[in-house]
Amino acid sequence: MPESVHPTLDPPGQARAAAAAWSCRTDRTSAIAGFGSFLPLETITNRDLAAIVDTSDEWITSRTGIRSRRRADAADVTSDLAVKAAQAALADAGMEPEQLGFVIVATATPDSPVPATACRVQELLGATRAAAMDINAGCSGFLYGIHTADSLVRSGTASNVLVIGAEILTRVTDYTDRRTCVLFGDGAGACVVAAQGPMQVLYSGVGVDGTQRDLIKIPAGGSRSPASAETVTDRQHFLQLDGPRVFRQAVRRMVEAAQQGLERTGLKAEDVSWVIPHQANERILTSVAEQLGIPVPRVVMDLAETGNTSAASVPIAMTRARESFEPGQLVMLLAFGAGLTWACQLLRVQG
Ligand code: ACO
Repeated sequence: MPESVHPTLDPPGQARAAAAAWSCRTDRTSAIAGFGSFLPLETITNRDLAAIVDTSDEWITSRTGIRSRRRADAADVTSDLAVKAAQAALADAGMEPEQLGFVIVATATPDSPVPATACRVQELLGATRAAAMDINAGCSGFLYGIHTADSLVRSGTASNVLVIGAEILTRVTDYTDRRTCVLFGDGAGACVVAAQGPMQVLYSGVGVDGTQRDLIKIPAGGSRSPASAETVTDRQHFLQLDGPRVFRQAVRRMVEAAQQGLERTGLKAEDVSWVIPHQANERILTSVAEQLGIPVPRVVMDLAETGNTSAASVPIAMTRARESFEPGQLVMLLAFGAGLTWACQLLRVQG
């Protein structure tokens, strides 16, 4: 009798430092069977932003590591980007859309609040046998999606699960606010999770501290503050964040999530060949690497040209790094985001 996932839940009411739910490999396995990404062509450079807000290429580069970011075509919505990344992932996995049992879209910028963006993706792909839903876990969303897919596959509930991280953040970015508008860009990345594949999932952990939910938010447009002329005038439909506090939380949570993953699997920092983190800020990622004792060159960073693409950033960076992967290597996915959420996955590259 195959085992299903056995999540270990922490006592309620305690803001745990690391993953609140985690799973280790049982005798049923899951793996990344294929992955891919899509980036829009249009580029917004630091100089472009310096022309509209009081900032400079020097400030943005030195404080974030970002030099440019992409902007989606005005005719496209998030699901359009998602479909392009999904098609690349399906081709990589050698799979047809009809073989999918589930389509999961992680996004903070859905096509619209209702219905789920995943529903249009399901239609456009022709994934006629799949169920579909969105996940809103901020920048950790793609890893939350893999966590869900891993559980679906290992429990035998679905054979092949498509996980997509897709964002058009430029549509919720306040281009009058220099503290945030320099950070964000558009893009999408996707993977297919199946029982077998070139990257086996060894460990998956996810966590949240809801007491910190005000640090990253779009204040209006929901039941708390429905859209009105006033919310529009007050720019309440744009993404707001408390940069310095997010910075500190991001370092702490990602370090703890990584350490917990290594501890649960009996692995060590020196076993990690590649860390593929959420691409928020070069200084955050350098700090995380130093605290984990992992050399910075082993941390994949492509934020210089993409900026922060939230739920899309890990699969985009993973696609760019794929040519460096070698059989037997251990790859760590690591993220944090609005919620505050965080997540860690450990993958073994197969021979
Ligand atoms: N250009 C010039 N000056 C700026 C800019 C800018 N674009 N932005 C802020 N400043 C100024 C501030 O006004 C402040 O000036 P003051 O000292 O005169 O008041 C000074 O720079 C320092 O501001 P801080 O906010 O303390 O700058 P910090 O070094 O913390 O960098 C940043 C800001 C880049 C946002 C950083 O805090 C950060 O990266 N935080 C994490 C963001 C993040 O991870 N977001 C991801 C989650 S959100 C999501 O992904 C959807």
